[in-house]
Amino acid sequence: MEELRIGVFICHCGLNIAGSVNVKALVESCKDVEDVVFVADHRYLCSKDGQEFVYNKVKEENLNRVVIAACSPKMHEHTFKSLLSDVLNENYVEIANIREQCSWVHTNATDKAFDLIRMAIARLRFAKPIEKRRFKPIQSVLVVGGGIAGITTSLDLAKMGFDVYLVEKEPTIGGNMAKLECIFPTMDCSMCVLSPLMSEVFNDPKIHVLTNTEVVGVEGHLGNFRVRVKRRARFVNENCTSCGLCSEVCPVEVPNEFDCNLSKRKAIYIPFPQAIPPYYIVDPFSCVGCKLCLSVCDPNAIDFTQKDEELEINVGAIVIATGFKLYDGERIKELGYGLKGVFTSLEFERLLSRLDLRGKRIAFVLCAGSRDEGHKRYCSGVCCMYSIKQALMAKERGAIPYVFYIDVRALGKNEDFYRRALREGIVFVRGRVAEVREGLKVKFENTLLNKVDEMEFDYVVLALPIVPNLPFDVPKDEFGFGLSIHPKLNPVESFSRGIFLAGCCSSPKDIYESILSAHTCAIEVSKLLKGEIELEAKFARIKENCIRCGICKEVCVFNAIEGNVKDGYRVVEEVCRGCGNCSAECPVNAIEVYPSDEEIFARVENCGGGVVGFLCDWCAYNASDVAGRLKMSYPKEFKAIRVPCMARVDVKHVLKALQYADGVLIMGCYVKDCHYSSNVHALRRIDELRKYLKKLGLEDRVEVVHLSSTEGEKFVKAVREFVDRIYSRRG
Ligand code: FES
Repeated sequence: MEELRIGVFICHCGLNIAGSVNVKALVESCKDVEDVVFVADHRYLCSKDGQEFVYNKVKEENLNRVVIAACSPKMHEHTFKSLLSDVLNENYVEIANIREQCSWVHTNATDKAFDLIRMAIARLRFAKPIEKRRFKPIQSVLVVGGGIAGITTSLDLAKMGFDVYLVEKEPTIGGNMAKLECIFPTMDCSMCVLSPLMSEVFNDPKIHVLTNTEVVGVEGHLGNFRVRVKRRARFVNENCTSCGLCSEVCPVEVPNEFDCNLSKRKAIYIPFPQAIPPYYIVDPFSCVGCKLCLSVCDPNAIDFTQKDEELEINVGAIVIATGFKLYDGERIKELGYGLKGVFTSLEFERLLSRLDLRGKRIAFVLCAGSRDEGHKRYCSGVCCMYSIKQALMAKERGAIPYVFYIDVRALGKNEDFYRRALREGIVFVRGRVAEVREGLKVKFENTLLNKVDEMEFDYVVLALPIVPNLPFDVPKDEFGFGLSIHPKLNPVESFSRGIFLAGCCSSPKDIYESILSAHTCAIEVSKLLKGEIELEAKFARIKENCIRCGICKEVCVFNAIEGNVKDGYRVVEEVCRGCGNCSAECPVNAIEVYPSDEEIFARVENCGGGVVGFLCDWCAYNASDVAGRLKMSYPKEFKAIRVPCMARVDVKHVLKALQYADGVLIMGCYVKDCHYSSNVHALRRIDELRKYLKKLGLEDRVEVVHLSSTEGEKFVKAVREFVDRIYSRRG
């Protein structure tokens, strides 16, 4: 075994550390720790001079592990790991946070600083090198969904040099935007904006447009996905000139889906005049096989021998841009969907130019199922604005529109649009509609006048909730929308690495926001695919003692574990994010992650008593640093151990900590904010443990605290209360 030669470098940070830590005494104490062969202090280790000093000493003294006792790892961990990268593996460098978690929050902090350094040294005794792997990703991208978001992303990516496969399940691209007459707040003609983009996509040599096509299977991982798509036969080839003669002679009429089934189309048809590709299509389910169309098609574009085909596409990344559907109006019985004259907003949009609206009273019912515990709890975000748009359009055509609302949500510059509607005489009634009855009697509670009222209308338009329309199984949030890695920091990358979310599939968005998210997706995809991908080095590894129970696969939210009972399980390294949940769940300790059990145990055993805090690297650790920066003092007994996520914390870690410390605080993100969506598993495990501890009268010795990264004050309060409780009870 390699002889350990650990070096400890202690920073004064001016007086930031040296003001409450006796650095000279600390140096002497560290010299006596086993395996430590070199200890030095420096006024500013992060300075150019300090870094040179560290680098030279590591080489001169032949050190093979290094502790930097200084400020938070969030400040300079990267600095020192990169500095030493040509002489030491990154996992052989450890930061002891003796500033934010020590000198800034305690007076006479030398003893605690020594505990933190000993914990760092202890971990290094068990550290294993982290290998990095790089590979070249495939330079093409699959975009699923040909609406405005998919079109925008495809055009961006093609301009950046990537090959794009744009897959759309309908016979044309254009999506929901193609069904709109105009768009708010500018009231531009929707197709005038969209149509040139559709043509541009179709004519771009880097973009392969596959309509009438659906994704049927996705395998592989970031950088190398294998996607199977099913392309349904169109029965009309590229010779089609869109003359329309075939449709004229077709004897079959069926409801037209593009028009929300409010008009008819033929069995051979084109969804709308500007459809792309600009070819007719045969609907095989309504075609009666009369072949009249064949007889009038001069260019011989109709080909009934075409067959459905399955293709495999290899891509480096996938962008899902499948937009939204409207919630099923029939599920909201009381709002009268199905009665003559009651429409969804999308139906009304299609009908606007066809109905004679002069003198007609129209009720626009907002939040028809949104912000409603019985249907969809969330706000659909765009209904207020598009309903105002439709009310304005109806008014222009001579109608008398009423808008029934709870609150009007006109964010940012949309406020002007709302004010315009008020100026133009749209009547806004504040109150939730309770019922729409036969005769289109609308019963509502007017919350401004505080009374229940009823009015009669000619038409009722329901602004139904926007619901997602995901094409295949990607991690979803509680409402069924695609789940992004982080709603603020990384809103477009899904929980599955290499799969991105553009437009409404991750949350309700208006066209402007959909386009923004589509541009962001393109940038994020290009950042990922340009050059080489460096794998997340801290992935899990299944060891030989695996008993093939499959629990790890069940609990992994990233689908990073594949296999089965018969063949065994393996971690897909490209997909694993290293949260550690699988390892904590494994009943036989057969999964190794970073930090390893040995590294965690070593820290615990060297904590010097007090209270151990397991802090997730995201919110909780940052909150403790915030407390440090605010110089908010808390009891010195608290010693932090950094873990990637609360989900890394296992019952055995807590029990071990209770052997060496008087209490354990497990601190991490709020459940909805957990960066791995996995801390619920830790909560379940800790809950079980507390039941067991209760039998021993020890349940108060373990507590879970949720924090956001800014909640330094809450962190301090939680530590103070916990430490006070533990020690006052012990007398
Ligand atoms: Fe903070 Fe999971 S990342 S608890």
